[in-house]
Amino acid sequence: MRKKIVAGNWKMNTTVSEGVALAKAVAEKAEGLNNGVGLIVAPPFTHLVSVAEALKGSKVGLSAQNCADHEKGAYTGEVAVNMLVDAGCAWTILGHSERRQYYGETDEKLVVKVRLALDAGLGVILCVGENLDEREAGRHFDVVKAQVENVLFNFSAEDMKKIVIAYEPVWAIGTGKTATAAQAEEIHAFIRETLAAKFGKELAEETTILYGGSCKPSNAKELFAEKDIDGGLIGGASLKADDFIAIAEAF
Ligand code: 13P
Repeated sequence: MRKKIVAGNWKMNTTVSEGVALAKAVAEKAEGLNNGVGLIVAPPFTHLVSVAEALKGSKVGLSAQNCADHEKGAYTGEVAVNMLVDAGCAWTILGHSERRQYYGETDEKLVVKVRLALDAGLGVILCVGENLDEREAGRHFDVVKAQVENVLFNFSAEDMKKIVIAYEPVWAIGTGKTATAAQAEEIHAFIRETLAAKFGKELAEETTILYGGSCKPSNAKELFAEKDIDGGLIGGASLKADDFIAIAEAF
């Protein structure tokens, strides 16, 4: 059985004290959750140490939102994977569309970052997804396939066990416009087929594939009912502990 996960990407939101309060609320409410869903929160870098402390002894895992593409040294403004581990992270998100779109994140760079993260012992949540133009041109399958191949086909089946994929159609992020459950399922199934062609059916079946893009308590149930949707990567709705937990309860 593949792992079900609901992860909260806080993006560039909350102060440290707000983040600690949010993490504590999530940890507390997570105690009542008994459906086997793994919970992860991904606060900004500045919050990691304090949020790690707030999550101590809870069921909630800690993730970064990005990492540097070098191990250490003269890279002003960057944060290395070993610093994330040291701060208490077990995960990092990589390749979010906002990083691809605004910060020039390329598939080539992602190969380097995924390698560094895995070697440091971090699990990776790798984001893929097409933008609106690509969807309207009917190119969504090609775009997602290329992202999966360009990054993940450089890794071994063993590496893949520590990688979760998040399908986030860019047109659904922060827009209130969710992909329908059928639209999401068709891409999730396609990603699984793409993985199966390279790594075999068994590994593809074991890989957790999350949906992200305006996922909220009101639509999570329908999305998570699809057979290839194993949870969500949640933006806006992860900033309210009640909504985040309600999404996790949708399983
Ligand atoms: P929203 O849930 O705010 O649409 O964001 C989704 C996302 O980008 C999560 O990484």
